[in-house]
Amino acid sequence: MRSVAQRQHLASGQDSDVFIRSDGLLVKRTRTGRDLRCEAEMMLYLSGHGIPVPRVFEATEDELVMQYVPGPRMSEEIGRKPWLAGSLGEELADLHHRLDLIPAPGFLSGEGDLLHLDLHPGNVVLGPEGPVVLDWASAGKGDRRLDVALSWVSLAVAHLAPVMKLTRWRFLRSFMANVDPEAKNAIPEAARIRLARHDRDPRERAALQKLMDREPH
Ligand SMILES: Nc1ncnc2c1ncn2[C@@H]1O[C@H](COP(=O)(O)OP(=O)(O)O)[C@@H](O)[C@H]1O
Ligand SMILES: [Mg+2]
Repeated sequence: MRSVAQRQHLASGQDSDVFIRSDGLLVKRTRTGRDLRCEAEMMLYLSGHGIPVPRVFEATEDELVMQYVPGPRMSEEIGRKPWLAGSLGEELADLHHRLDLIPAPGFLSGEGDLLHLDLHPGNVVLGPEGPVVLDWASAGKGDRRLDVALSWVSLAVAHLAPVMKLTRWRFLRSFMANVDPEAKNAIPEAARIRLARHDRDPRERAALQKLMDREPH
């Protein structure tokens, strides 16, 4: 059995617990029984195509060992430096543009282009060499505009402190101004996907429901 004492808890996301090992590498453990080898395969594919992701060292069914990328998450940076909201929104749009260029890998099922499907500011670390995209567990195939819409929806329905609300909309406005304008037509579908994915709190469910009912325009 591996010793838990040599690990320091770093974070717990929606689906996993993350630790730092004594050798400085990061270990992601699933709480849902999802096979982490798929996420590792996806990350290896992406780094081979020039997308900034943490380097993978080892993967088993329930543990993924990867490079720890120091730096604030984009979500933290928005909170701490609200005056950067506009440029951070552009930076997230730019990450989508980089994904636009990557062919979808054959090992993913489905049809269409490569989608991260959870590319919100909490899944981007602003590392010393630039932004790094985390959490490829939900990656799939489809219309790239849906991926953009999911980014918008995740932040639009997030429960934030009142002081953050204006900053959020400044970020989202800048994000949407720098992506395919058709992406907003995919918002109802993105809300449906997000609602189906996890147990959401009642406020978030209500906000998602409202977006699902929105007419495309
Ligand atoms: N390679 C990494 N470098 C730095 N922080 C990381 C790394 N991987 C994960 N984290 C931290 O752990 C959190 C949860 O990891 P994530 O892959 O997003 O799991 P979940 O699927 O549970 O959301 C992230 O939001 C981030 O704060
Ligand atoms: Mg995450």
